[in-house]
Amino acid sequence: MSENETENETENVKDRGPRVALVTGANKGIGYEIAAGLGALGHRVGVGARDDARRETAVAKLRAAGVDAFGVPLDVTDDRSVAEAARLVERREGRLDVLVNNAGISGETGPGWVQDPTALDLDAVRAVVDTNVLGVIRVTNALLPLLRRAPAPRVVNVSSAVASLTRQADPAVEVGPVMAVYAPTKSFLNAVTVQYARHLAGTGILINAACPGLVATDFTGFQAPRTPRQGAATPIRLATLPDDGPTGGFFEDAGVVPW
Ligand SMILES: NC(=O)c1ccc[n+]([C@@H]2O[C@H](COP(=O)([O-])OP(=O)(O)OC[C@H]3O[C@@H](n4cnc5c(N)ncnc54)[C@H](OP(=O)(O)O)[C@@H]3O)[C@@H](O)[C@H]2O)c1
Repeated sequence: MSENETENETENVKDRGPRVALVTGANKGIGYEIAAGLGALGHRVGVGARDDARRETAVAKLRAAGVDAFGVPLDVTDDRSVAEAARLVERREGRLDVLVNNAGISGETGPGWVQDPTALDLDAVRAVVDTNVLGVIRVTNALLPLLRRAPAPRVVNVSSAVASLTRQADPAVEVGPVMAVYAPTKSFLNAVTVQYARHLAGTGILINAACPGLVATDFTGFQAPRTPRQGAATPIRLATLPDDGPTGGFFEDAGVVPW
């Protein structure tokens, strides 16, 4: 490459401006802290959220903290909402560097967060699959054309260590209550993540699953030891991997989570 070409390349990269991220379910909890953390690292952050008031409040709070944040109306279960969100990011930014699929639900639980496999409401199971798995596929596929335009695209799927079949099958490991709806949706999500990684191998897009640990949010009724900011650490690390970083993996703060 000639010196001029190198200069032009550098100029083009500069023209691209800050890295652009979209975080789904970013109005609260771990998603909010992922948005805040990526913003603090210099990303321009799209705050994906389905409720207008909650989204606007989060965007205002992030901006007050110095984050270059913008709102993205986004219900991950709704094809039209997701398509419109992709159009908004395209019109505004022209590309996407980082997608964090964070939005997730547990579904109804009984006392002690138990979801009894012998007494499941199948419609309730479908609703959790629709958010935690189909929502991720829907959003990823809608944003993939914009990710392909970025120089170093990263996708993070926020999963959970309860998705680890290895840990669930080991009676010596403490894995919490039986969660017959939620846990399998995250195992499903992990399996989907691996298929994306295989399909996208060699494209420069790195896609990984992240467990945030047990975090005090609405999701856990705030009965958990970790803060949302601590929960955001691994997703942020995977969103900012170097080009030679892993893809198709499953990580928590301590390292690799066994499948
Ligand atoms: N907390 C934990 O201990 C823990 C552990 C392991 C994994 N996780 C995972 O971490 C992620 C974030 O959880 P969290 O603890 O931060 O929970 P949270 O405080 O309940 O936040 C969940 C977020 O997802 C959004 N969301 C849910 N359904 C959506 C939909 N259809 N479209 C768009 N957004 C939607 C929520 O929006 P609304 O405000 O509109 O409901 C909210 O912003 C989830 O994927 C969860 O499974 C959490």
